[in-house]
Amino acid sequence: MNETTSSRFISIDPKQKPLREVHNLLLSGVSPRPIALVSTISEDGIDNLAPFSFFNAFGANPPYIAFSPAYSGKDGSAKDTLLNLEKIPECVVHAVPFDLIEQVSLASTAYGPELSEFTKAGFETLESEVVRPKRVKNSPFHMECQVEQIIPLGGTKGSGNLVLCRIVRFHVSEAVMDDGKMTPDALDLIGRNGFNYYTRASGAALFTVNKPTGQGMGIDQLPRFVRESSILRGNDLGKLGSLEELPNQDAVQQYINGVRADKPTLKYTKLFLHGMDDLDSNPVQARKDIEIAAKVALNEGDLEFAIHVLMALDDL
Ligand SMILES: Cc1cc2nc3c(=O)[nH]c(=O)nc-3n(C[C@H](O)[C@H](O)[C@H](O)COP(=O)(O)O)c2cc1C
Repeated sequence: MNETTSSRFISIDPKQKPLREVHNLLLSGVSPRPIALVSTISEDGIDNLAPFSFFNAFGANPPYIAFSPAYSGKDGSAKDTLLNLEKIPECVVHAVPFDLIEQVSLASTAYGPELSEFTKAGFETLESEVVRPKRVKNSPFHMECQVEQIIPLGGTKGSGNLVLCRIVRFHVSEAVMDDGKMTPDALDLIGRNGFNYYTRASGAALFTVNKPTGQGMGIDQLPRFVRESSILRGNDLGKLGSLEELPNQDAVQQYINGVRADKPTLKYTKLFLHGMDDLDSNPVQARKDIEIAAKVALNEGDLEFAIHVLMALDDL
């Protein structure tokens, strides 16, 4: 029922693999990752900016985020971001939209601590309200943070250092707000995948998933022929299983009568009626047509149609 896995897996013990391979496993398999563009300041007052994709949010009350500057896999040296945070435990974490990726990529090159990536990568600055590091005006979403803990995750070459940050101020550009909400198309954020791949979270890449209302009955409650269908896939079954209960045969019959009476114009309703009419003469093809009609309806969000027409095949 699922197309992205096969029954054979490659099993990997990270202790038996070189660091580069383990790193690549994480980069490819834990993706796309949001990108934190992190601004810090050195004791000498030099601004520093660097991207980190080992990054996420971890709680809202109070709001926490974390990211992880690793020790160099080659020589074990610490990144300027980490060195700065050990001295001045404050930072500003910015979201990264598609428009900024080349500048962000430039900011990720290893400039020495005496150079500011703000200047090198051409970002405009804004003063922060609570913390000392500056903000990047070009990003639409900023989080001023107090660093509460830095947790070493190995202390050697390639090891991460989890920087746990409590957010003390948010800043949201009005340009990405619509009706009091940030909209993904306006944010146009990017994510990091493995190797040189990135993901752009806007336009055709966006989709919505309706949250099940109440408790879904579960896929196990669907009739066997639905669960084992060669036409319906995991996502189709997930939608059907999110319904609270199966309709009884009276409801099914009533629904189908209604579909017939409506003189259907939709492709999937026509296909369904065609299948119903062929059930006696060509039952195998007819059942396939009805399952296909249900699948198309599910793709169009017509869950009610899908469950009723599938249940019309139950016990036939
Ligand atoms: C999109 C992107 C994501 C990155 N994520 C990380 C990360 O999660 N951890 C890390 O140690 N380095 C990461 N890097 C590399 C650092 O940004 C790079 O080492 C940078 O030079 C560190 O700067 P700093 O020395 O000023 O702190 C990433 C680079 C890019 C382009």
